[in-house]
Amino acid sequence: MQLTSIFVSLLLTTAVVAKGDKKNGTTKAVSEKSQCREITTLTELVNLASNSTKLADRTKNNATKIAEIQAKASEASTKLTTLQSNATLVSECAVIDAAAKTKDQCASVRFLERLVKLAANTTELADKTKNNATKIAEIQAKASDASTKLTTLQSNATLVSECTVINAAAKTEEECSSIKSLEKLIKLAANSTELAKKTKNNATKAAAIQAKAATAQTKLTALQSNSTLVAACASIKASKDGSKASEADSSSSTSTSSAAASTTAKSGASILDAKAGILSTVVIVAVGMMML
Ligand SMILES: *[C@@H]1O[C@H](CO)[C@@H](O)[C@H](O)[C@H]1NC(C)=O
Ligand SMILES: *[C@@H]1O[C@H](CO)[C@@H](O)[C@H](O)[C@H]1NC(C)=O
Ligand SMILES: *[C@@H]1O[C@H](CO)[C@@H](O)[C@H](O)[C@H]1NC(C)=O
Ligand SMILES: *[C@@H]1O[C@H](CO)[C@@H](O)[C@H](O)[C@H]1NC(C)=O
Ligand SMILES: *[C@@H]1O[C@H](CO)[C@@H](O)[C@H](O)[C@H]1NC(C)=O
Ligand SMILES: *[C@@H]1O[C@H](CO)[C@@H](O)[C@H](O)[C@H]1NC(C)=O
Ligand SMILES: *[C@@H]1O[C@H](CO)[C@@H](O)[C@H](O)[C@H]1NC(C)=O
Ligand SMILES: *[C@@H]1O[C@H](CO)[C@@H](O)[C@H](O)[C@H]1NC(C)=O
Ligand SMILES: *[C@@H]1O[C@H](CO)[C@@H](O)[C@H](O)[C@H]1NC(C)=O
Ligand SMILES: *[C@@H]1O[C@H](CO)[C@@H](O)[C@H](O)[C@H]1NC(C)=O
Repeated sequence: MQLTSIFVSLLLTTAVVAKGDKKNGTTKAVSEKSQCREITTLTELVNLASNSTKLADRTKNNATKIAEIQAKASEASTKLTTLQSNATLVSECAVIDAAAKTKDQCASVRFLERLVKLAANTTELADKTKNNATKIAEIQAKASDASTKLTTLQSNATLVSECTVINAAAKTEEECSSIKSLEKLIKLAANSTELAKKTKNNATKAAAIQAKAATAQTKLTALQSNSTLVAACASIKASKDGSKASEADSSSSTSTSSAAASTTAKSGASILDAKAGILSTVVIVAVGMMML
């Protein structure tokens, strides 16, 4: 429910504006990608506006919101026609979309595998849910659906082999962000001024953070002992900094926020897709906690 309202408000804040950059070279790919993202977002918006069931559901039948979405969709429709009149763009987007879809499916596979594994491990399950039987039952029910879904996805050999590559890269990225958050936690625990501020001088909370930081240090040391990983993280960071700079460079005044909004809306859309099957806040939180 919360996710859907976030999604709707993102759609509404997404400016229905073209990316107007005229740059060439390396910035071209960035702008093309964002045009494709825009097509996706606009299409989603137009589809939503034309489906009264969905519209009522997502707006909780709020007539003001419905009218807002329909007005936006009318603008979006015009914009979409213009973008889609470019056959080159449309065919390039088809390629980009297919790659994005594969990436999403691989992420689903990863998530589903984790969920199934969690549901099968009673120790971990008790730990993550603080032994709440309702939550345990919820996770187990979701894992049962997940298992079916996983079987379907894994019956596609092409997908499985593509996901091996993609998921290895994703795992590296995840480990890199673990390193970052572990470092952050350790730094916080070591800084008594900051710790006092964050915990509002609550010594119990501060001690809990320090205990967590001790565990974090062990994990960090283990991760950092892998020099391949450390090098990969440095190169990921460098390439991210690079593409951020070029995106900022290629953006005209309105397009930065527009592109950012569509990116978020797009990932909102993927979350919604996945949600139809299995996602719930409880599980997202549970999986999030697995990373610590
Ligand atoms: C595009 O590329 C051409 C030739 O490489 C260059 O002369 C021109 O300045 C570039 N335009 C922009 C906006 O970067
Ligand atoms: C409208 O949306 C609902 C779900 O919200 C879906 O089941 C239905 O197929 C959609 N109808 C059309 C015509 O796309
Ligand atoms: C309907 O949506 C509008 C605009 O987002 C909001 O201001 C209003 O409070 C909503 N009405 C109800 C009954 O929720
Ligand atoms: C069509 O889209 C392609 C890819 O984004 C772009 O290079 C080209 O300039 C566009 N053509 C027109 C007429 O806008
Ligand atoms: C279950 O999870 C715990 C961590 O919570 C782990 O130590 C253990 O190896 C797992 N057991 C299996 C069979 O995977
Ligand atoms: C157990 O989880 C359920 C569902 O999330 C929640 O409603 C309930 O309050 C929890 N029970 C305890 C004892 O925390
Ligand atoms: C299998 O996965 C590949 C890669 O994602 C996709 O192109 C293809 O359409 C899928 N095949 C089936 C039968 O779903
Ligand atoms: C501790 O955190 C404060 C901000 O809360 C910062 O100003 C200070 O430089 C930090 N000290 C160290 C040693 O990092
Ligand atoms: C300090 O934090 C603990 C644990 O979060 C909490 O139980 C306790 O009430 C807090 N103490 C004060 C004085 O706020
Ligand atoms: C070290 O990290 C790399 C890159 O993430 C990974 O492929 C490799 O399996 C890791 N090695 C060990 C021993 O964990």
